[in-house]
Amino acid sequence: MNEILSLDKAQMRYGDGTRALDGLSLDFPSASFTALVGPSGCGKSTALRLLAGLLAPTGGNVTMPTRDQIGFVFQDPTLLAWKSAYDNIALPLKIAGHTRADINQRVGYALDLVGLSGRGAALPRELSGGMKMRVSLARALASEPRILLLDEPFAALDELTRLRLDDDLLHIWQQSKCTVVFVTHSISESAYLAERVAVLTNAGQLAHIENISPPATREGFRSASAYHRAMGNIAAALGHDLNHDFGENLSAGRGSAS
Ligand SMILES: Nc1ncnc2c1ncn2[C@@H]1O[C@H](COP(=O)(O)OP(=O)(O)O)[C@@H](O)[C@H]1O
Ligand SMILES: [Mg+2]
Repeated sequence: MNEILSLDKAQMRYGDGTRALDGLSLDFPSASFTALVGPSGCGKSTALRLLAGLLAPTGGNVTMPTRDQIGFVFQDPTLLAWKSAYDNIALPLKIAGHTRADINQRVGYALDLVGLSGRGAALPRELSGGMKMRVSLARALASEPRILLLDEPFAALDELTRLRLDDDLLHIWQQSKCTVVFVTHSISESAYLAERVAVLTNAGQLAHIENISPPATREGFRSASAYHRAMGNIAAALGHDLNHDFGENLSAGRGSAS
């Protein structure tokens, strides 16, 4: 079966000779949530840019829908400082030629989805880092994309804000039923969010696939043995032993029966 989103032996060699991906194959089923995790420089962003059509592979194949069906969120919210939250979200829709009424409806929907209804008039400098990221998310969601690609979106935020945005992203995914590919270097974030974690090592080599069946609401999941087991497996695939690296707190969770 043809997936709408897939990498098939995708290769990327940059102009300077850097081999960023060396034949990565991954299918992304419709409405699935996949995390790509791996060390800095292993090719995560390159894989995401191929999926977004921002880069063309130098070998292999990439299958994706048309550009307007893909939303992309970067680590930096990249908002225009002199435009309101509303106008930042509306801008890509204006460029794409949507009517005023349609833009109004879509921006309202997106602000609502990220929990910022009523804050459309705010300028970026009036918003916290977490809220700016929410505006950035809303901008990607306003076009109601079938695919949402996120490149370490919450990595620059403080821990508590990140945990809240993780939960909000899960809610958004469940509401919008889009296919999510989430890049992170955080083992715990990948195991918490994703149904499937693809562990990449050097040049996008697929070291491991961790399939997780988390509860939909994630209630209590951070203390569940399934979560700790997944983290242990992902860490092991990356060549780390959580027992050794982080002491005994994690090992207590990992070993216990579910
Ligand atoms: N535009 C580019 N030109 C040359 N090399 C690049 C470019 N972008 C990324 N790279 C290199 O490709 C490799 C993979 O990069 P990247 O996909 O950004 O990894 P990650 O997101 O996992 O940190 C790294 O060695 C990086 O330095
Ligand atoms: Mg990157």
